[in-house]
Amino acid sequence: MKNPYAYIEAEILDVIEETGNIKTFRLRPSGEIGFRAGQFMEVTVPGVGEAPFTPSSNHSVKDTLDFTIMSAGRVTGILHEMKKGEVVGVRGPYGTSYPLADFKSKNVYIVGGGVGLAPLRSLLYALFNDVNDYKKIILKYGARTPSDIVYKKEIFSWKDRAGHVDVEASVDVGDDTWIGSVGLVTTILKNDGLDMNNAVAVVCGPPIMMKFATFKLLDLGFKDSQLYLSMEKNMSCGLGKCGHCRIGPYYACKDGPVFTYDKIKDLPNIWD
Ligand SMILES: Cc1cc2nc3c(=O)[nH]c(=O)nc-3n(C[C@H](O)[C@H](O)[C@H](O)COP(=O)(O)OP(=O)(O)OC[C@H]3O[C@@H](n4cnc5c(N)ncnc54)[C@H](O)[C@@H]3O)c2cc1C
Ligand code: FES
Repeated sequence: MKNPYAYIEAEILDVIEETGNIKTFRLRPSGEIGFRAGQFMEVTVPGVGEAPFTPSSNHSVKDTLDFTIMSAGRVTGILHEMKKGEVVGVRGPYGTSYPLADFKSKNVYIVGGGVGLAPLRSLLYALFNDVNDYKKIILKYGARTPSDIVYKKEIFSWKDRAGHVDVEASVDVGDDTWIGSVGLVTTILKNDGLDMNNAVAVVCGPPIMMKFATFKLLDLGFKDSQLYLSMEKNMSCGLGKCGHCRIGPYYACKDGPVFTYDKIKDLPNIWD
């Protein structure tokens, strides 16, 4: 029987410094390993351990995978010291993805915080692949300071896609270079003239940001079932076996990480 924890090797082709503690790793897996935007994979640092991450690249690019990773502890700390040419392991993909077919013909309102823009970049690329199939695509992004913004070189160029993509960013604390909004990301969440009956919202970021962004989106008129949340719970096996990632009756690794809010809103401790 095939070992479910077996990974395939992937060479680090490039390391892009996004911020002081976030890097994007471009990997070339030794075999084909596709994914759908929103799904995650386990990345192994040989001899150290593994951790779950969502690819931040375009799912239609088959020979490479990008992961945008914040240095948070043991595995990510050592990963951040790895260089071009070194080899990691990748297994997956796992879990649920954003249901793109259900987003067709709708306004797609995307809210990201910090490194939470990683899965959302993959979603945005997937939307851009068929950009005319969607109504307005709106990205609202929050970071702590201007130097904490990820994908700085490309994020504002997304506005120019097909004339119906809007991008707005806010920082908690500005500096001399920053001419955008200052305040938590919730301060830039507005109706923006959207028909809320024909819209979905997608949220990914730190738990506290997810909580308050969700409440603000509900205030704006989104319904529970129109909100798609990426629940990045602590995980271990990634396979629905160990129970580390429980959210009430669900396993975030198998039944998530993408959930609609109506499915989880009454469960305890969802924002922990
Ligand atoms: C489905 C999924 C997708 C993810 N995608 C990304 C991504 O694209 N980019 C990225 O930078 N990170 C992502 N993460 C978070 C990432 O998995 C953790 O930062 C990583 O596991 C930390 O591993 P470590 O060994 O470096 O830290 P550890 O030494 O294990 O822990 C460091 C600290 O982080 C805490 N921690 C570990 N995992 C999580 C978690 N999931 N949520 C909150 N706190 C946690 C630990 O409790 C500890 O306090 C994702 C997590 C999940 C579950
Ligand atoms: S991580 Fe083991 S059950 Fe989800």
